[in-house]
Amino acid sequence: MHVYSIVGARPQFIKAAVVSHALQRAGIRETLIHTGQHYDGAMSQVFFDELGIPAPAFNLNVGSGTHATQTGAMMTKLEALVLQDARPDWIVVYGDTNSTLAGALVAAKLHIPVAHVEAGLRSFNRQMPEEINRIATDRLSTLLFCPTDTAVSHLAQEGMNEGVHMVGDVMLDATLAFRERAAGLRPLAGVTDLPAGGYYAATVHRAENTDDPERLQNIFTALGRLDRPVLLPLHPRTARRLPDIDVPGNVHLLEPLSYLQMLTLVEHAHGVLTDSGGLQKEAYWLGTPCVTLRDETEWVETTVNGWNHIVGADPNAILQAVQARPRKDSKRPLFGQSAAGRASTLIARTLLS
Ligand code: UD1
Repeated sequence: MHVYSIVGARPQFIKAAVVSHALQRAGIRETLIHTGQHYDGAMSQVFFDELGIPAPAFNLNVGSGTHATQTGAMMTKLEALVLQDARPDWIVVYGDTNSTLAGALVAAKLHIPVAHVEAGLRSFNRQMPEEINRIATDRLSTLLFCPTDTAVSHLAQEGMNEGVHMVGDVMLDATLAFRERAAGLRPLAGVTDLPAGGYYAATVHRAENTDDPERLQNIFTALGRLDRPVLLPLHPRTARRLPDIDVPGNVHLLEPLSYLQMLTLVEHAHGVLTDSGGLQKEAYWLGTPCVTLRDETEWVETTVNGWNHIVGADPNAILQAVQARPRKDSKRPLFGQSAAGRASTLIARTLLS
């Protein structure tokens, strides 16, 4: 069996790391294609090196652009590549980025079945480009690999029952697989001298926050009112907006971190404040309370018992949520954690069968 895996943005490298290894173990031939959506070394190459991901067979080098420019460039180049190269049995796409949508559209039009890893997630906010990408990709997929029961029920509500597999979360596979190596980095070598529990970890990169100066300023104002230093690895999208923002003195801006550095940063933080999807779950798995700087979440399971508060960008709401800390003993296994670490193996097996 031969599959093409399409990746392009940072979270997809992490997911592909565990799935690639599972495909190898199952004897499936994989051709990895990098769209070039993320191209800075700290956003891309470092993940391949650190997580032992096979070098992409092709890089489409599309770079930045508007949604149509970026997605269109990916589609044009990917179609040409698939037509000239050996026709794969499956095209595997991950998550909800423009690279996901481009891969799914090209595959579907060339009559190559699509397997979607992280299917069925919904924020029910169609202002998010990611929500459009999810809906369209799920619709075009033959195999839908869901991380949660909630995701399965979203698909059922939209009339999709065939090819749906609840396999668990590949991000949990990654956290479990790499956590031990991350522990070797203590005490946060090269990231901070602050003691464990002595800081908050924050990330902001969603278009809804970065492209609205008032929202972005509100978030930074809230960070400035926290009782500890805030370590904030900066996404290039956010970096570009900062000249217009008043950054408080307790907020320390960092270069984007590697996956292992990020795991250690989160594990030892007093709390996490983020608009990332993946980080909400990583905080949960690592036992660090989270405050989500968005108006909704796809990962509703993390909000149980106050482990993740969905607060948006209002400074008072953010501060209140940070102070309302969950009880340590109130954390429950989530996301199919009973079969934890097996999502990528189940994906490989299902593809084979
Ligand atoms: C994308 C995904 C988002 C995911 C995020 C992870 C879409 C629609 N969004 O958002 O779901 O959570 O990746 O990071 O696909 N840039 C650089 N260097 C890079 C990459 C990007 O400078 O290596 C700049 C681009 O020029 C662009 C901005 O960052 O102006 C945004 O990049 P883009 O790929 O459009 O989306 P992300 O915001 O990264």
